[in-house]
Amino acid sequence: MRSLEQVLADGIRDIPDYPQPGVMFKDITPLLADHTGFTQVVEALAVSGKDDDGRPVVDKVVGIEARGFILAAPVALALGAGFVPVRKKGKLPAATYEESYALEYGEATIEVHQDAFVPGDRVLVIDDVLATGGTVEACLRLIRRCGAEVAGTAVLLELSFLPGRKRLGNENLTALLTV
Ligand code: PRP
Ligand code: MG
Repeated sequence: MRSLEQVLADGIRDIPDYPQPGVMFKDITPLLADHTGFTQVVEALAVSGKDDDGRPVVDKVVGIEARGFILAAPVALALGAGFVPVRKKGKLPAATYEESYALEYGEATIEVHQDAFVPGDRVLVIDDVLATGGTVEACLRLIRRCGAEVAGTAVLLELSFLPGRKRLGNENLTALLTV
């Protein structure tokens, strides 16, 4: 079996100048197409939802639209937990809570169904990339507004030249790879 480090090195490629000049896009589609690699990554992310003895300790796994969905749904299955989508504004049909956060230009808003959690649910948040941390931070606010408890956040990739980890302060955050 390859090491997780090797799997990530094999499966994440740099695409320069996408979506705009000067930006280096981290493309995870080769990893998703690699069955054994994807399986190892899902298992590694799921560790954040287990105790020291390897027992699952979360009730729900949240995936953040869109790329977070791809990772969070199999992690939820691996943990025997439910899956909850946090979506961009206007996509969820029932009553929602919404939270906004700043982008480089303008603002984004994400939503969750108000009844997505049972009060006291323990929740693991999954996304692909932590950059400025604005997306995850807004997501944690949504979960807490629902009366649920954030057990932790796990991402595939953390961009350490951006202040995401600092912004999240004392939140429990795991990154499989930091660049
Ligand atoms: C990307 C990425 C993270 C977020 C990280 O999502 O998938 O969700 O940005 O950035 P931040 O830490 O600065 O908030 P984006 O909304 O760009 O696109 P997606 O719908 O393809 O996931
Ligand atoms: Mg995203």
